[in-house]
Amino acid sequence: MTDRTGGVDVIDGLDWDLIADRYWDRRPVLIRLPGGPSAHPFRPDDVFRSAVAATVANAAGEIPKHVRFAVDRDLKSRPDGWLPLAEDDSLDGYATRLAERLDGRRYSLTVQAFHAFHHPLWRRERTFYDGAFRRFGLPLSSAITTMFHGNYEHTQIGAHKDRFASFMFALQGRKVMRFWPEQPWTEAVTSVLDYERHLPGSFAVEVHAGEMLYWPSSHYHVGESALDDTPATSVNVGLPREFTRAAFEVAEYLTDPTPESMLSEEMETAGLPPLAGPAWAPPEDAEGSSPVGRLPAALDQAVDFFRSGANEEAAREWVATLSLRRWTAGGFFPAPPPAPHRSLIDAVAVGLPADEPVRWQDIGAVRIVAACGHTTRTRLSAEALARLLAALRTPDRALRVGSLLDELPPPAREDGRRLLEDLAGFHALSVTGD
Ligand SMILES: [Fe+2]
Repeated sequence: MTDRTGGVDVIDGLDWDLIADRYWDRRPVLIRLPGGPSAHPFRPDDVFRSAVAATVANAAGEIPKHVRFAVDRDLKSRPDGWLPLAEDDSLDGYATRLAERLDGRRYSLTVQAFHAFHHPLWRRERTFYDGAFRRFGLPLSSAITTMFHGNYEHTQIGAHKDRFASFMFALQGRKVMRFWPEQPWTEAVTSVLDYERHLPGSFAVEVHAGEMLYWPSSHYHVGESALDDTPATSVNVGLPREFTRAAFEVAEYLTDPTPESMLSEEMETAGLPPLAGPAWAPPEDAEGSSPVGRLPAALDQAVDFFRSGANEEAAREWVATLSLRRWTAGGFFPAPPPAPHRSLIDAVAVGLPADEPVRWQDIGAVRIVAACGHTTRTRLSAEALARLLAALRTPDRALRVGSLLDELPPPAREDGRRLLEDLAGFHALSVTGD
């Protein structure tokens, strides 16, 4: 029997220094995560809840663009009961329901942007990679998270390479990845479906539950069909290593992106206003003078739009907002959306975990406060804000909202309450006892 690790090193436990010194940007390594559930960022329960939240149909009643569901090679466009539902109770429950319906046919479910739907999963993932980002720095464009579930691997993409350093976490079932350290073909193509003739020179790694496989962005790879009847579940995390364009960042700077717009396939243009004028420049007039120096309406609008983004005062607030969101998202954005607004009365107790960063910036008229990848504005003075956050940091104690607000001058109480409510909505504050 051949070695299921394909000859790659196997290490016990997560040691980012070791990974940095020996493997990062160099070669794959298989990491056995310590058994304790706290070390594994993707718990089956969270993965199931995320899958339910992520696969809700879009406004048109269709499967959203970041989700792919296929039975054999038949890609579905409408949910029709194919996707995980809360009443399935677990991924096993979902798999059992589908098995009854599919009668031997195979299925696959792929969800992109998987960290953007369920706060507990997002938070564990952010915590897990915190050590990596302390070692390597924070990526400027978001890490990506993709969930795979099913008993049929999506191999239509063929052997390829990505611009991401990849980490595969196996949750259940058997996952096999095949690798080539260098491009195995000479043709001018980016992927190859039938890679049989390139098998010499490749190696395959079988990843088991509780393990994490790392491979650098330089490695060509393909997921191989295990063709087990039992469905396999895995989550892949990609940290950007090769940058090709700044279009996403430009769009994010110019618009106020929402998780929904960031998940849209038209990401570059999401949020940009539709064209207000004609897209054609008028013909030259009778005298033959061309309207040099006068832009066609469409270009005029684009220039105006950029100018509004460059307005100094607005830019200062917006730069602070985006920057604070990035820092508190810890490399994983969009973060899951905030919870609906909920009032906090004085008697309610709130707590702020010691490792939950709350950052803020004074931009003159207001303060921008950020947590968990979200921001809000407050009229609290810098002193009042600092005092309230310091009170929240009192270790290991849930505090009554009323006594926290007593820290503030009376006119600032309601601004303070509003801020606590926003931080609770961002899931930074835990709320107990109401
Ligand atoms: Fe890939």
